[in-house]
Amino acid sequence: MKVLVTGGAGYIGAHVVRALAAAGHTPVILDDLRRSREDRAGGFTLERVAIENTAAVSRVFERHRPEGVVHLAGYISVAESVRDPDSYWAANLSGAASLLVAATRFPPRAFLFSSTAAVYGNAEVSPIPESTPLKPTSPYGASKLAFERLLHDAGRAVGFRSAALRYFNACGAHPDWHVGEEHEPEEHLIPRVIAALLDGRPVEVNGNDYPTPDGTCVRDYVHVSDLADAHVQVLEAGSMPGGMSVNCGSGAGHSVLQVIEAIGAALKIRPTVATKPRRPGDPASLVADPRLLFEQVTWRPAHSDLKEIVASAVGWELWRRAHRAGR
Ligand SMILES: NC(=O)c1ccc[n+]([C@@H]2O[C@H](COP(=O)([O-])OP(=O)(O)OC[C@H]3O[C@@H](n4cnc5c(N)ncnc54)[C@H](O)[C@@H]3O)[C@@H](O)[C@H]2O)c1
Repeated sequence: MKVLVTGGAGYIGAHVVRALAAAGHTPVILDDLRRSREDRAGGFTLERVAIENTAAVSRVFERHRPEGVVHLAGYISVAESVRDPDSYWAANLSGAASLLVAATRFPPRAFLFSSTAAVYGNAEVSPIPESTPLKPTSPYGASKLAFERLLHDAGRAVGFRSAALRYFNACGAHPDWHVGEEHEPEEHLIPRVIAALLDGRPVEVNGNDYPTPDGTCVRDYVHVSDLADAHVQVLEAGSMPGGMSVNCGSGAGHSVLQVIEAIGAALKIRPTVATKPRRPGDPASLVADPRLLFEQVTWRPAHSDLKEIVASAVGWELWRRAHRAGR
């Protein structure tokens, strides 16, 4: 099937595009490269368009008539969204609404959306099922939740199957595709720890007095290749009811210290830890209950073992340093 992948030059999108192609689909990327580069489109068809440009987005739909849409284009930082909420609402809600205008004119069969565990805010249960109250604590989480609702309403009204995948912590990289994590600035734990160890700096840990086994925050790390495969399966799962929002995580939790230890072991560098105060708003534990997705598709995380995640992320960073002068 022809699948329009917005944000297909980004970290997760680039993996989704390649996983779709590997499964025999025809991806078309829609990305204005504001947070990426053309080489990450990897030679797949690239429509260099901002999602906010409703007329241009509609022309892309008219030209390609995609049967599937995977919408990943957007901003991704909780902290940045608190500093600059307007941009987050503009890109993550208004921009996304442009896609729905186009999808109404040229309806796909299925429309998938990259949502986030941030829709739960400071969840009081762990693992977190989808029935947990939705209380986002940032404009990022709130804008993602608002679009989930808009998307499901539009899907019901227009007659396409909608699904929102609530990612937990995406990480790792496909060993051969060379499109690993490259956010600017990088806020995610695994690439930050790898960079600190390779650069000979202490690793900063925000808070070691949480109510967790070792006092540091616990998160659910899901390999980006697993996430990409989940998109392929949900797109292909014609029997999955529309209007579903499902968790996409491994179901296992690892603490910050466990992640640091695993990266130290992979690099054979003994980490030095610098403990800093807690960051406001960081929940102690965010781990997915992924059973709802398991009921819908045969997908199971196959690469989300911490060792495999870390090995692939280290491999990517070493490749990146070897191939990108000055980085
Ligand atoms: N990385 C994670 O751990 C994580 C977790 C939960 C949810 N998500 C969601 O997944 C999606 C992808 O995340 P990522 O880590 O790949 O981010 P990324 O920044 O690497 O990729 C985003 C891509 O979208 C493009 N883009 C952004 N705004 C655009 C716009 N208005 N018009 C056109 N193109 C635009 C950027 O150029 C970039 O290529 C995001 O929507 C994010 O909220 C990510």
